[in-house]
Order: sequence, then structure tokens, then C-alpha cells
Amino acid sequence: MSKLEQEKLIAEAERVLTHNYRQQPIVLSRGAGCTVWDVAGEKFLDLTGGIAACPLGHGHPKLSRAIAEQAARLIHVSNLFYVEAQIRCAEALTERAHALGQPRVFFCNSGAEANEAAIKLAKRYQTTFKGHAERIEVMSFEGSFHGRSIATVALTGQEKYRAGFGPLIEWARFLPFPTDENDRRALDRISETTCAVILEPIQAEGGIRLWPAGFLKALRARCTETGTVLIFDEVQTGIGRTGSWFGYEQEGVVPDVISLAKGLGGGVPVGAIVASGELAQGFAPGTHASTFGGNPLATAAALCVLETIEEERLLDRVKAAGERLRASLQKLVEKHPGRAKAVRGRGLLWGLQLDGDAAPVVRAVRERGVLLSVAGGTVVRFAPPFVVTDAELDEGVAALDAALSG
Ligand SMILES: Cc1ncc(COP(=O)(O)O)c(C=O)c1O
Repeated sequence: MSKLEQEKLIAEAERVLTHNYRQQPIVLSRGAGCTVWDVAGEKFLDLTGGIAACPLGHGHPKLSRAIAEQAARLIHVSNLFYVEAQIRCAEALTERAHALGQPRVFFCNSGAEANEAAIKLAKRYQTTFKGHAERIEVMSFEGSFHGRSIATVALTGQEKYRAGFGPLIEWARFLPFPTDENDRRALDRISETTCAVILEPIQAEGGIRLWPAGFLKALRARCTETGTVLIFDEVQTGIGRTGSWFGYEQEGVVPDVISLAKGLGGGVPVGAIVASGELAQGFAPGTHASTFGGNPLATAAALCVLETIEEERLLDRVKAAGERLRASLQKLVEKHPGRAKAVRGRGLLWGLQLDGDAAPVVRAVRERGVLLSVAGGTVVRFAPPFVVTDAELDEGVAALDAALSG
């Protein structure tokens, strides 16, 4: 296809798709590792990793094979029946998240659905299983992002995502993001009538923001003290993104429930919650469900992702590559002092804080053949596949350097 034909295809997209995204003007058709090609054959280095959803990169032979084999055998049967891939995948997740205490898994299809499930589980556990009818409020933090469904958008602590959808649910409350480790304002708002608190181990869409040291430990202690369910939204930080299987491990705290999606399916839509055995008692037959949740195709893919990360020792790679990326982004802060303000992140989730809108910089980087994304408006985000090479990281940073110089 020529570039002109690609333009025509984009014009057709503008005619037939709703206008809720701001797509970059390329139509992608093929990928291998961290490289993708548009329909006109132009090549790009993809350091967005499908917004942190492709830990194995594009076209990983093991994942492609697992999907093809499962598709040939059985794609979908519904949760009227057991399926082996779902059981094996749940086993693999519970082994990795054993710290939660005899955990159990519920499968769904996306991050928003995983958070919905976590909130419903917490609510039912508190009000019905434990009989605390007064525990109504669910709290999240300013700057958070938890998804686009009504409940998750209501709990997203950024006005721009909520605007136009009100009135939203009345039991959602926002806690202030702590300014430092001594800031107890949020902790003091959690009480014996709080149902649950939900937070991201690193606020990703909010601009790659980390918590002050020790804050999450203090939050865990406060939730335990008040009997509040602690939910970690690990949709972006989970499945190795921060260099450990889950972001909570890096903070030395254990939540009651984690929500997962993005990297879990390696690009195949699959979400899940892993809940402690205690919490999981909140769900009884008929209280929650998903037609496609945990179907054979999705869970065969997710199982393959979990096994491949282990077999190829990709958590070690995330740590080493992440350190290289951090160091080279730090050099950009030194080189472009007025423009690049700070580097934040962990593992292979990094943000370069700019002094203004990051979208034009991301555009300029794309014109140099590298794909990056914006987080929180003013942050350039790197969330590459774990199979990224040092040379690819260097190429991405060089393109960003050139864009900041231009
Ligand atoms: C932390 C977090 N939670 C939830 C979501 C929503 O996930 P999904 O788009 O799969 O519904 C996202 C997506 O960016 C996210 O980063």
C-alpha cells in the first residue's frame, strides 16, 4: 500500500470510527520484537509496548504458537464449564502472588473490568459477608487513573476523565496525594466506615508518580487497623513491568486484592483480579461474572506470557534495561535543563517530565521513527517490551534528545 492509500484509509477511519482517540497518523500492520511497520512499509521502533501491554514484544514465536494452538483446539465455551487453560493460568498467578495468602483469581477482559471486579468484591465482602452495612465509601487518590467504566472513572482522581459523565457514584471519595512521608492527611481520612482504598503502586497515566518512601507501608497499617480492604491497581505495574512480578513487592507491602490486565495477555485482551483467600469469600455463585472472562484463548495466551517471562529471565532484563534507560534519561535532564525537568519510574516504566505539553515532542520523535506515548499531559512515557535491546533503548533516547534539541 502506498502512503497515499494509507492516508485514504485514515480518512475512512475518521468517517467510521467514533472520535474518542487521538491516533497518530499511521496504520500499523505488522510487528516483530520492538519493531512495527505501517501499511506503507515504513518501520518504527515501538517503545510504547502497546501502552505497557506487550511484555514479549510483537510476534513472539512462543505466544503466537500458544494462541494458534489454542485457537485450533477451543476458543470459547463460557464459564458454564471449567477449562484447563483458565485453571493453569490461575495456578500460575496464585503461585506468583502467594504473599496475598491462599489467593484466588477471577478473570475478566480489561483493566477497567478488573478494577470493577475488585471494587464489587470489596463491597460485597464488607457489606454482605462481614455484615458491615455501614462500610460504603471507596477511596482513591488524586491523580489516579483506574479506567473508563462508570465506577472506575468515578474513582479516577483526574477531573478531565470525569467531566461530562456526572452525577457519578456518591460513595467515591478522593484522598490527597501525599506531599512527603510525614503527610498523614490521607491516612487520617480512612476510618472504620471505609469499605476500600484503591491505588496504583506507581500512578502511571497521572504522569509516572511514585509514592513518598514508606507511605504505602503506613497506608497498609492504617487499612489493617480500620478493617479497610486495600486494593492495588496493578493494571500497568503488574506482570513484571517494575522488575518484580507485581509492583507491591517493591514497596514491601501486601495488598488484599490486585487487579491486572495490560501485560497479562501480551496483547490479547485479558484482565484478572487476584484476591486473598479471606477477601475471595466475598464472591458467592451468581454475584459476579463475565461471558468471555478467562476464556481458553485468553488464558492460554496469559499462561504463555507468565511462563515465557520466567523461562527467558525477563524480570532480570527489565531491571538491567530499566537502569540503562533511567541513566540515559537522566542525561537528557542535564542536557536540556529548561525543557526536561525530572526522570521518574521503575523497571521498564519511565517518564521524562517536561516543562509543558509532551504531545508535540512525541510527534517529533515519531517523525524520527520512534513511537512513545504521553502520560499526564507533560510526561513522555517509555513502556517498552521486556525484550527491548540496549541498542533500541539508545535509539529511542537519541530520538528524544534530537526532538528536545529541535
Ligand atoms: C492503572 C490503570 N488502571 C486501569 C486501566 C484501565 O485499563 P483498560 O484500558 O484495560 O480498561 C489503566 C489503563 O491505562 C491503567 O493504567
